[in-house]
Amino acid sequence: MTKEERYKSLLPQVKALCEGEDDLISKMANVAALLHYEFGFWWTGFYRVVNNELLLGPFQGPIACVHIAYGRGVCGTAWKERRTVVVPDVEEFPGHIACSSESRSEIVVPVFSHSGSQAITQSSNQTIIAVLDIDSRDLATFDDIDAQYLEQVVALL
Ligand code: SME
Repeated sequence: MTKEERYKSLLPQVKALCEGEDDLISKMANVAALLHYEFGFWWTGFYRVVNNELLLGPFQGPIACVHIAYGRGVCGTAWKERRTVVVPDVEEFPGHIACSSESRSEIVVPVFSHSGSQAITQSSNQTIIAVLDIDSRDLATFDDIDAQYLEQVVALL
């Protein structure tokens, strides 16, 4: 299966996991587990916006830093710039926060406040409530395909 095929088969699973569930943390927990085990990433999880900082949320993988400030690291940058950030080599990203020395590449996808298709448009009046952060032990794991599908995944939360 190609990466794209994997994402395509995963989207209905994400939808089924989230449908009818109100608690965001529960949904994040299952979505992190689904992505992590489907793709075998090194670290897969969410940071929620709490008290104007990013606070560690549900994740799979090794322990991670708990607090990330606005604009700091890859996660804080995705939050500040309101866009998905793909980092092919974390050593080349100024200010990257190394929670694990094993991480070599990373993608961070903002989670916008409105659920459903509205979130895909990422209009400027939507609040960012969290980010999805995925780390790989290989260089250049993530590209536009990951960005495109992971944005659809978080829109289903
Ligand atoms: N590398 C991230 C920090 C979170 S850990 O990777 C889980 C960053 O630079 O924001």
